[in-house]
Amino acid sequence: MRAASVSDYRELARRRLPRIFFEYIDGGSYAEVTLGRNVADLEAIALRQRVMRDMTDLKMSVETLGQTLSLPVGLSPVGMAGMYGRRGETQAARAAAAAGVPFCLSTVGVCSVEEVAATGTPPWFQLYMLKDRGYMRELLARARELGSPVLVFTVDLPIPGARYRDIRSGFTGASKLEAALAQAWDGITHPGWTWDVFVHGRPHTLGSVAGAVKQGGRVTDFLAWIARNFDRSVTWKDLDWVRENWDRPIVVKGVLDPEDARDAVRAGAQGLVVSNHGGRQLDGVRSSISALPKIADAVGNDLELFMDGGVRSGLDVLKGLALGAKACFMGRPWAYALGAGGEPAIRKMLDTIRAELAVAMILTGCNDVRAAGRDLLDLD
Ligand code: FNR
Repeated sequence: MRAASVSDYRELARRRLPRIFFEYIDGGSYAEVTLGRNVADLEAIALRQRVMRDMTDLKMSVETLGQTLSLPVGLSPVGMAGMYGRRGETQAARAAAAAGVPFCLSTVGVCSVEEVAATGTPPWFQLYMLKDRGYMRELLARARELGSPVLVFTVDLPIPGARYRDIRSGFTGASKLEAALAQAWDGITHPGWTWDVFVHGRPHTLGSVAGAVKQGGRVTDFLAWIARNFDRSVTWKDLDWVRENWDRPIVVKGVLDPEDARDAVRAGAQGLVVSNHGGRQLDGVRSSISALPKIADAVGNDLELFMDGGVRSGLDVLKGLALGAKACFMGRPWAYALGAGGEPAIRKMLDTIRAELAVAMILTGCNDVRAAGRDLLDLD
């Protein structure tokens, strides 16, 4: 199958990846209500078709946090990407750099921040607050030293939400024997992945935090360690601690409520990602796109506003911009593309997003993404 859209990459990833990893990427928490809403609410928004305007010149680039993005798009942090494609985070970082958009590296990436920075473009770095502050301090110093321009501080994961699909697939909660058997079966039935990732994609550790994990050999052992070490005591005051250790822009990721957005401004954040973690945390909360307008009204001029959750096309990107985001981030779309065909597939996926955004701009009469506003939407 030749992939034409993000849903095609999803299907290709479903075929190529071991079930545990496909379900881990694809799934959400509990009944997946919020996961569904993220996509459905974006789909339900109608663009306003406008015609007979000179749309020869389109401006798609934006300036944000000291950087120029050639598209108002970014790749959200996704954990363990090195299990979906060989050294997956480096492949995604290269594809993003080629497209002129930021790649944000997860704290729990398989590739370390050093390995990703060695591609030539230091990634935005995502931080989970772990209890071991000494280790966090060192990690921030490493990312800073390597030239990461932006810190993305994820605040919606003081505890991981339950993901039923991971239990059913045996990814979490399985005994060592069950896991070994499932892995062997997955290997036999997914030879392309086995050759690419299992054989040639080692080491399978969580590169940036490997030093802090004392026991465990499998990636799932690392995840269990991380889950035990999330710091639930974190408050807005801790942003001061982060700032003491990070003198570049800080983006808070995982806010859905205007009150929290105001607190983020008061705490001195330079950016905010309106996000519900792709429907992987508190199920039943509203979609990111439906939360965005109120947050834009509350703080849109006080910091750089981004959103993620359910963005599956360039048309969705324009909807996000119209409702107040400076750029829209995507998580699963690049994870699917990585699983489907590595860096070339992520590049193509980003090309598709660019082409779709162009069509959406031309047919809504928007020739500069910086001017996208609610007038592009048919909100009746
Ligand atoms: C995530 N997300 C995430 N966020 C984060 O801050 N750190 C992380 O390590 C991860 N890991 C992760 C793994 C996988 C497999 C997924 C799908 C997501 C959340 C991610 O950054 C983003 O908020 C959502 O993916 C956005 O929703 P969409 O684009 O997937 O619909």
